[in-house]
Amino acid sequence: MALKTSKDGTDLVATPQHWWKEAVIYQIYPRSFKDSNADGIGDLRGIISKLDYLQLLGVDVLWLSPIFASPNTDNGYDISDYQAIMTEFGSMADFDELLAEAHGRGLKVILDLVVNHSSDEHRWFEEARKSTQNPYRDYYIWRDEPNNWQSFFSGSAWELSAETEQYYLHLFAKKQPDLNWESPALRQEIYTMMHFWLGKGVDGFRMDVIPFLSKDPLFPDYPPGRFGDLIIHANGPRIHEFLQEMNHQVLAHYDCLTVGEGFGVAAHQANLYVGHNRQELNMIYHFDHAVPREEACFGQPAPEFTLPELKTIFARWDAAVGHSGWQNIYFGNHDNPRVLSRFGGSGSHRVAAAKMLATVLLTQRGTPSIYQGDELGMTNCGFENVGEFDDIQVKNAYKVLVMSGSVREVDFLKAANQIARDHARTPMQWSALAHAGFTDGHQTWLKVNPNHATLNAEDQLSDPDSVFNYYRQLLQIRRKTPALIYGTYQDLLPQHPQVWAYVRQYEGRSVWVFCNFAETEIAVDLLVDNPKVIFGNKAGTDVKNNKLILSPFEAQIFGQ
Ligand code: GLC
Ligand code: CA
Repeated sequence: MALKTSKDGTDLVATPQHWWKEAVIYQIYPRSFKDSNADGIGDLRGIISKLDYLQLLGVDVLWLSPIFASPNTDNGYDISDYQAIMTEFGSMADFDELLAEAHGRGLKVILDLVVNHSSDEHRWFEEARKSTQNPYRDYYIWRDEPNNWQSFFSGSAWELSAETEQYYLHLFAKKQPDLNWESPALRQEIYTMMHFWLGKGVDGFRMDVIPFLSKDPLFPDYPPGRFGDLIIHANGPRIHEFLQEMNHQVLAHYDCLTVGEGFGVAAHQANLYVGHNRQELNMIYHFDHAVPREEACFGQPAPEFTLPELKTIFARWDAAVGHSGWQNIYFGNHDNPRVLSRFGGSGSHRVAAAKMLATVLLTQRGTPSIYQGDELGMTNCGFENVGEFDDIQVKNAYKVLVMSGSVREVDFLKAANQIARDHARTPMQWSALAHAGFTDGHQTWLKVNPNHATLNAEDQLSDPDSVFNYYRQLLQIRRKTPALIYGTYQDLLPQHPQVWAYVRQYEGRSVWVFCNFAETEIAVDLLVDNPKVIFGNKAGTDVKNNKLILSPFEAQIFGQ
């Protein structure tokens, strides 16, 4: 265990070591990963058939986006039975086999805990809506009058329920009523359900919009001009009490991994969730560098971050979690367009850029999550018309913006092609075959990116210089380099517009990372004496007069 000195040199603190800090997570979006029965929808047996691939890649933990019974308004993030498997994905026997097969390969499995809301087709809601006296009534949130809150998927966050003429709260779709965590009975139902999965041997949970569980009991209106302000929804007055109760009653009984989706959590609040003496969660991930996708962005997307802005966000979060907290690092997930299309330039350096982004992802301080397909360098998919999108967020925004005449169809399509979540959800590209080898059937639930002809797993597995093999080697290096896991993080060139350079230090060992985020060559001071190249995406580093010349999207890792 390393001793660390704080800025004033007085306070020596140790960074506690845990398996979940050393692990690398791989996120599977089951609907799009692999179809085993030719219906065009990914499923559990499809995942089982690709476990060897994941083991070869060298990740440690598989996070499965929701696999539970669901009418699929929000692709499984609307759950109608927390202890049943979605029919399209298979059976509980398939899940048990998946878990055993994963464990047999040394892979852990975490599930998606979606307990801010359920589906309106959940038995609890079907009961609750019947009458104000129903025993399940207070599992949900009811009001005689709506306030001015907006749903993240457009329109009011309140829906009138005809049976009782009261409104229920849904921060997401109408078919995703918010659960009422003020109800002790509801909380016990959730804890029992969590024990059910952990008791089966599941290794933990990714927790959906976890800062939203506690709501301000006064349900205040948004101040004028601040519609959809996260500050109102996240970090409610009882959130830490609920998470500590969940930890005490459930999580503390297992050696499990918990990662919260920190929607609405500011850096200075992070350690309230993940401080090691807080007994809440292991880690959270923030949204400061996520692609903004609120409704207005479908009219005109927000400008992309500059590199100094991006580096500032990472430095801020690293400092905020410090030695007593921990965070989850990601660039891609099922809610963001493909990272390579954001930061990979025009595409003329696709392979180098994908490897460079892998380098940053896997060498920051925090547990990284690789999103499926990023290990191949998958990119956004051109959607030619609005009908090609699947996501409820796109469809609802279209109704509000285009059908009302406030945004032109062509502008909407352009914006959606930049920010839509569907880009991350197109089927995994397993081969150059029809439908990218994702299915043997005749159709897929969402279009396949045509670039699968030249961008697919089969080709990359046999190519030693592929993006896949770069990830594989870098994962091995990370595993045997403690500085890349526990080392401190220091940005060396925070203002540099095109190079991200930092040093990780641990027990007297230093590792330097230099990444060129642009399509032009650049020279930077090599701040390392007698550098030894550990790994990089270009053979032979170019050093002249103590300057490191980085070619477009070059990434190099040095040690001493
Ligand atoms: C989270 C999920 C997202 C989902 C939303 C509602 O943000 O990641 O996919 O739509 O919660 O469950
Ligand atoms: Ca299927």
